Amino acid sequence: MPPNDVLVRPAARFGGRVRAPGDKSISHRYAMLAAVADGNSVLHGFAPGADARATCACLRALGVEIRADFPTLTIIGRGPGGLCSPKEPLDALNSGTTARLMAGLLAGLPLTVTFVGDPSLSRRPMERIAAPLRRMGARVSLEAGHLPMRVEGGGLEGIDYEPAVASAQVKSAVLLAGLHARGRTRVIEPVPTRNHTGLALRLFGAAVELSGGATAVEGGARLHGVDARVPGDLSSATFWMAAAAGMAGGWVEIEGVGLNPTRTAILGVLRRAGANVEVSAEQGLRDGEEPRGRISVRHGSHRSFTIAPEEVPGLIDELPALAALATFGGSMSVTGAGELRHKESDRIAALVRGLTALGADVDEQNDGFEVRGGRPLRGGTADASGDHRLAMAFATAALGAVGPSVIQGADAVDVSYPGFFETLAALTA
Ligand code: S3P
Repeated sequence: MPPNDVLVRPAARFGGRVRAPGDKSISHRYAMLAAVADGNSVLHGFAPGADARATCACLRALGVEIRADFPTLTIIGRGPGGLCSPKEPLDALNSGTTARLMAGLLAGLPLTVTFVGDPSLSRRPMERIAAPLRRMGARVSLEAGHLPMRVEGGGLEGIDYEPAVASAQVKSAVLLAGLHARGRTRVIEPVPTRNHTGLALRLFGAAVELSGGATAVEGGARLHGVDARVPGDLSSATFWMAAAAGMAGGWVEIEGVGLNPTRTAILGVLRRAGANVEVSAEQGLRDGEEPRGRISVRHGSHRSFTIAPEEVPGLIDELPALAALATFGGSMSVTGAGELRHKESDRIAALVRGLTALGADVDEQNDGFEVRGGRPLRGGTADASGDHRLAMAFATAALGAVGPSVIQGADAVDVSYPGFFETLAALTA
């Protein structure tokens, strides 16, 4: 078998206690803010995957010292004036969050930077952040809406911005640019998305107003270094929760996982799908600190569930795992999820292709898909299409098949979850 393929056998059992790797979204934000803060930051539980490492490599290229003793990072803050224009383009690799959030942060500073990425990232839309950054006064150029992206920053003015798409990355790019802009920058969202940037700005000492649909930051604050814990990544943990919910007798307990309410919609959907879900949150959070706690999921029944368009932004990274869950029984349908076509792969087409190859009964729609889980999967060969979440979704679905499956390009899991297949083996042993 090619070295990047992984064989997944049908599982006779699924259960155990796990810790998810550090949250990827939060790790990017803490690293970027630590770099422009005054003083040192110590970040515990930092995300181990290639995406978060891409952010660290870009920060190093900007002159930031980062001492890594995984999963703890010490970042020597350089203050807002301490970054230098890099000689080479910054390579965001596969990471949309690196390219988009860092473009926002650097747009506020008097630097000139070019971002490049891998072929997948180079196909993803960038005009969505370039447009508001230009409105604030940055000079941003793209090639037909895509990377390479050149950002010439500095001298920004705060704006009020209503993004056309519900995207935490767009919101965050604008807020991070607003950190070093004149006056107030406010983002008003059509549907609320994850609020990690607002919380992180607050944790590092910026003045932030956070209300349901709007987030505002006052420009010009100096940030201070922090000693902060990154919770486990709920989106990564979702694959274990889906397997536990799908497999007869399945269970999983996840410790120290993020419970930010802008990310926990998945728990309600798992209940709707028939799983028993219990949550216990740690008490006593500092201002700006991320909620965390323990989640336990047990198999209950297989119920059909529908994801409505307004739920999609709160579940955007969990939809592949939910599709895998639906292959165990019941059915799933989602609409209003056209954004999935702009992820690390065209996640509607590639998800439907891979699940079909495993024997699932799946339909593709323009802005969604339907999975009818009435019969066990046959097993087969599914191509992850270079997409970490699809590799993990196909592996999850394969546990319930009658025959073995091969996940092609399974090494994509390293983007967010190095060690995924070792944990899978432990939970099914
Ligand atoms: C992220 C936001 C989401 C999500 C991505 C991480 C973030 O992307 O899919 O995995 O860290 O802000 P969009 O903002 O493009 O929806």
